Amino acid sequence: MRVLVTADYRTLSQTAAELVIKAVRAKADLTLGLPTGSTPLGMYEELVTTYRHQHLDFSQLRTFNLDEYLGLSQDHPKSYHTYMRLHFFEYVNVSTANIHIPDGSPGIDVDAESARYETAIQQAGGIDLLIVGIGANGHIAFNEPGSAFESRTRAVDLAPETIANARQHFRTEAVPLRAITMGIGTILEARRILLLAAGASKAGAVERALRGPVSQSVPASALQLHPHVIAILDEAASR
Ligand code: PGA
Repeated sequence: MRVLVTADYRTLSQTAAELVIKAVRAKADLTLGLPTGSTPLGMYEELVTTYRHQHLDFSQLRTFNLDEYLGLSQDHPKSYHTYMRLHFFEYVNVSTANIHIPDGSPGIDVDAESARYETAIQQAGGIDLLIVGIGANGHIAFNEPGSAFESRTRAVDLAPETIANARQHFRTEAVPLRAITMGIGTILEARRILLLAAGASKAGAVERALRGPVSQSVPASALQLHPHVIAILDEAASR
């Protein structure tokens, strides 16, 4: 694993965006795995800025998001569908037909949706470059501690600490308790992976993921098994 320690969040975001841009310029129909949450916001901003000023073309890009809350309609203000629209897709020329986000809408048949999602990834030829954050508890996507490294896209229960974070972020007690997420096995099949981590609250998880034993109790430690991972950290997450 290559580890890049950047001076601050802005540089982390620029570094991540530059790697994505290089990959898109090298392969216009790149298949990209995309995260949500606070960490990638700066990267999306950089990508939008570059799109506007440097003629970046996303028209052939194919995207697969990592996860979605279960029980939220796609247009719910806190759904990851909405997040992606507001922070990226609304501003760039990614074709709607090429955007894939697991559907967590109320009443969805989650097993069928999970199988459909896995098939769509296979039909796209697999994921070329996947970007993922890390939770303070070591989760990647919504694969919480204890998730099998062979796991595939499926419904999961969120860990208590993840639910507590969601309550802060949603500013209400009523938050989803379950999600649909790519599995660790799905993530490890991506050809290249970028792990992004910013802030002191992530330092412990980063240390365990990058340098601790490979263990199901730290889902992100599975990344040590992958041959092409770049971890991009800010100073605070690296200490
Ligand atoms: P964050 O979430 O970017 O909002 O910190 C990362 C994660 O939990 O995977």
